[in-house]
Amino acid sequence: MYQTRKIGVVGQGHVGAHVANSLLMQGIADELYLCDINEAKVTSEVQDLRDSLSFVPYNTKIVNCYDHYEELACCDVIVNAAGKVALAAGNRDGELFFTTDAARSFAKRIVDAGFDGIFVSISNPCDVVCTELWHLTGYDPKKIIGSGCGLDSARLRTEISKKVGVSPKSVDAYMIGEHGFSQLAAFKAATIAGKSLNELQAENPDKYAFDHMEVEELARKGGYVTYQGKQCTEYAVANSAARVCAAVLHNEHAVLSASTLMTGQYGEEGIFTSLPCVIGAEGVEEVYTLDLSEHELEGLHKSCQHIRDNIAQLDW
Ligand code: 2OP
Repeated sequence: MYQTRKIGVVGQGHVGAHVANSLLMQGIADELYLCDINEAKVTSEVQDLRDSLSFVPYNTKIVNCYDHYEELACCDVIVNAAGKVALAAGNRDGELFFTTDAARSFAKRIVDAGFDGIFVSISNPCDVVCTELWHLTGYDPKKIIGSGCGLDSARLRTEISKKVGVSPKSVDAYMIGEHGFSQLAAFKAATIAGKSLNELQAENPDKYAFDHMEVEELARKGGYVTYQGKQCTEYAVANSAARVCAAVLHNEHAVLSASTLMTGQYGEEGIFTSLPCVIGAEGVEEVYTLDLSEHELEGLHKSCQHIRDNIAQLDW
């Protein structure tokens, strides 16, 4: 008997609505369950998506759950996109109190209702919200995946690609740490066709020499370039979360940069942050540590400290 793939999306603002649309366009779920505390907004989003059904390749059932979070308990994956992007003008940390309060309002209700699937959390500051979801619910941390630096890694690959003239899809490089200004590029471990960037640069400096700090900064600030003209980012972050959902539902064992619980990697533990993770039906199946330079390692510890400082402001 075919088992329907069900995805819930909490929050129908810029990001949540685009997550739902991305999932619909790609046929990633058979059933979409949408929640938002604003009944009129979620009703409109449901209507808009249903109106799209004639034009997309797959049929998807779209359910309006309003603020009845317990209805998401049947889902295989729940995406948390509850936020208030205006508070993030200039810094994702601006949403700290809003998003952690929001998570407090629904996470335990969903888990207590019997949810047994995977949380994919986008809301910023992403690493803090993921740590909170774990803390509030006692849920298996492997089943909480932060979209984290997945998008920043894509930005990094694009910037490297522009410098060296190789498709971003052929660049294996990761932004790691906090999904915020303290994130860093793991250049030492970056490769193209199995060769490190340093090796390639030594072989062919004309093509492969570029300013690493400049490229890292472009990746780190990419979200705010988008933010400037439209006061939000929506398509790319939504697509990055949809990518994680697909990796889970297709049990892909895909390696993606995602925010996950640190359990001693580089001596860090007790907080979520981004490293390359193997993602499949059970959530995060394995976390890779990368060979970092001393400077990168120092940057990662600073980034983890920033997450801890944010958590320290919360009343847990
Ligand atoms: C992004 O990086 C703002 O977190 C959002 O696009």
